[in-house]
Amino acid sequence: MKTDISIGKNTYLFDALGKKIIDFESGIWCTALGHNHPRVHRAMTEQIAKIVHLHHKLTSNIAEDLAVNLLELFHFQEGKAVFLNSGSEAVALSIRLSKLISPDKKLLTFSNAYLSAFSSFSIPRSKEQWSEIDFLQCGHCSYEECTHQCKLLNHIEFSDISTFVFEPAMCGRVLFPPHKLVKFLEKEVRRNGGIIVANEVTTGLGRTGRWFGYNHYDIEPDIIALGKSLGNGYPVSAVVMSGPIAEQIEMRNFVYIQSHQNDPLGCATANEVLNVFKDEHILDRAIPIGEFFMTQLLELQRTCSVVKDVRGRGLMLAIELNISNATEWIAERMLEKGYFIGTVPQWNVIRFSPALTITKHDILSMCKELKSLLSQLEG
Ligand SMILES: Cc1ncc(COP(=O)(O)O)c(C=O)c1O
Repeated sequence: MKTDISIGKNTYLFDALGKKIIDFESGIWCTALGHNHPRVHRAMTEQIAKIVHLHHKLTSNIAEDLAVNLLELFHFQEGKAVFLNSGSEAVALSIRLSKLISPDKKLLTFSNAYLSAFSSFSIPRSKEQWSEIDFLQCGHCSYEECTHQCKLLNHIEFSDISTFVFEPAMCGRVLFPPHKLVKFLEKEVRRNGGIIVANEVTTGLGRTGRWFGYNHYDIEPDIIALGKSLGNGYPVSAVVMSGPIAEQIEMRNFVYIQSHQNDPLGCATANEVLNVFKDEHILDRAIPIGEFFMTQLLELQRTCSVVKDVRGRGLMLAIELNISNATEWIAERMLEKGYFIGTVPQWNVIRFSPALTITKHDILSMCKELKSLLSQLEG
């Protein structure tokens, strides 16, 4: 799949010859407002003309403004925020902060959680430090409510858990943890004095139709890691923490330094991204357009026998095929026709995470092309 993309405009990419490709992955789930959003672009170029980078001991109003903007979203009075570069770094720091508060306890997460690209978090995680739950096994039990007797949960000693590191979606395969399981884990971890870290790197900022993925679960995290959409393609991430957590961290005199922490350019970019989300009511759009997309995918399932499953939340959607080795063939043909779609070949999954600005027209035309390819695979 060799391409020579030279320009991005909203949901469109253009190659050097001017061929248009509709981006159904928003980069790699980053450009939620579309490529090269005019307001974000302007804020970036204005900031470049002023100052890009700063020593971590010096502060800038733009970092303060972004912190206020974000803390308001989480209703964190007296909370604190720090701005970094990648989602991986934000998740790593969030976990480090929770370990600082309770160094001798374990962390709990879902077995398939991505967490970050840093190898210290990749699977297998050490049993001394982590307890894991495979939520894909959930639902196969006869219990109406989660209980400690459940074989998925009976190995977990909640008094040993300091933190539930919660990923509101298994983003690659587009699978979502069951509501009752998440609520149970939250309740048990809190009952034992633990905290909740939400990894919103992928689900954050409207991807699932709500501001944050955890909003679907009616829980309130203590620390949130953000990335991807926060910079709309520019590498800026954030760790946001509640007032009580910030107070505990301060008591421990913790120092974290990296070169591009709170850089004015990243902060100006993220601040304008948040302003655009609010001013242009992006979330009000994401829900109906996500529902429209889902309806079209369900129609594909109804009419194409190779579609085994359709699932999604907001504009994080997928279809799963009941045949193997077809997703890459489909993705290549789709690219030739001008549609860039995501795939997870080992699970026969085709994935769609377009910008929240995608139009119904472009969804319809993509589904039409996809249907014609899926029909060729039938029989
Ligand atoms: C759930 C989740 N967390 C963290 C990350 C890491 O983000 P980054 O690639 O910006 O380091 C990713 C990346 O895809 C992710 O999907």
